[in-house]
Amino acid sequence: MEKVRIGLIGAGNIANTHMAAYKQVTDAEVVAICDINIGKAERLAARYGVEKYYGSMEEMIAAETLDAVDICVWNINHSVCAIYAMEHGLNVLCEKPMAYNAQEAQKMKEVSEKTGKVLMIAFVTRYMDDTRVVKDYIDKGYLGEIYYAKAQYVRRHGNPGSWFADKSKSGGGPVIDLGVHVIDRARYLMGLHKPVSVYGATFTKLGKRDNLRTTVGWIPEDASPTDPCDVEDFATAIIRFDNGSVIQLETGYSINDLPKSGLTLCGDKGGMRTGDGPLTLFTEMNNFLVDTKIDINHLADSKDGFAAEIQEFVDCVNGKCECKATAEDGLICMKILDAIYESARTGHEVIIEA
Ligand SMILES: NC(=O)c1ccc[n+]([C@@H]2O[C@H](COP(=O)([O-])OP(=O)(O)OC[C@H]3O[C@@H](n4cnc5c(N)ncnc54)[C@H](O)[C@@H]3O)[C@@H](O)[C@H]2O)c1
Repeated sequence: MEKVRIGLIGAGNIANTHMAAYKQVTDAEVVAICDINIGKAERLAARYGVEKYYGSMEEMIAAETLDAVDICVWNINHSVCAIYAMEHGLNVLCEKPMAYNAQEAQKMKEVSEKTGKVLMIAFVTRYMDDTRVVKDYIDKGYLGEIYYAKAQYVRRHGNPGSWFADKSKSGGGPVIDLGVHVIDRARYLMGLHKPVSVYGATFTKLGKRDNLRTTVGWIPEDASPTDPCDVEDFATAIIRFDNGSVIQLETGYSINDLPKSGLTLCGDKGGMRTGDGPLTLFTEMNNFLVDTKIDINHLADSKDGFAAEIQEFVDCVNGKCECKATAEDGLICMKILDAIYESARTGHEVIIEA
């Protein structure tokens, strides 16, 4: 079978990660890379032996015969790139968050429906080994009905700066950048219920803390300690779903506490925690409380999450499977993120309409 021909849009940090993952996917080939900073496109192309590079998406799409694009650009440009590509007959893998806001995500979903093109959102945590193992336990009934989740992604000092700190390009701080990962992962594992209401609070207390060096990953090449910052540095939220379940979110770039990254799922038969520390199942056995540590280091079918995500996208383009990380799920996540910001602004609960 012919390889799926991919054009990569954006040549920054996540594009580099995607390029490494494409090496593990045998039935796809990145044939061209573009970036509005053409020097970055040229360097990434050279690093991975890609012959063609361009200074704009429009030039790349006009010049190349592509099946799909992989969108790795600032959040503000996700929708414009995705809509342009689908309207030019191409399938789309789009980095998280789906868009700058729910309104733009809605337009992307409509264009995907109108054109019949695949629009998959790169919710990479769905494809990670620990998520697959937790899902297997859930599907086999070990947790029973899951009614509460604690979703945490909090850095102690980790604002990447550059466009991440600029709301006009990012749409916000840790809520839209990190919260999106843990909200989607929790919702996916809890059964993809519809959100009905959100209460959120955001804080802008510590800023980027340029007096301290951050060792966080994902710092854009052009980031500088003097970059201005107008995004929140910490947020918490309660997200309620139509089956009565709740996700409690904590996410931050900066806080005077230890960093946290993980997900706890609580069901009426058992609970699980993945993230910092070993994957653990909390149950009752023989009238005792029992914590079982699950060693996932020896999984026979262990996969890199990014490679597994890209493989699924390629399989969707080839018509071999349905996309798991749908535009519908991307849009629902955007509605939750918008609602967190709106609740934080007004100080009141926000109702999410069906
Ligand atoms: N899945 C993950 O774990 C993960 C991790 C990091 C970033 N991301 C997401 O990936 C996206 C990019 O983040 P990054 O860390 O690579 O940022 P980055 O700053 O390293 O790279 C972004 C690149 O996009 C380019 N760009 C912007 N608009 C463009 C356009 N219209 N056409 C072509 N190029 C354009 C910029 O010039 C820049 O080189 C963001 O949406 C971010 O949320 C996801």
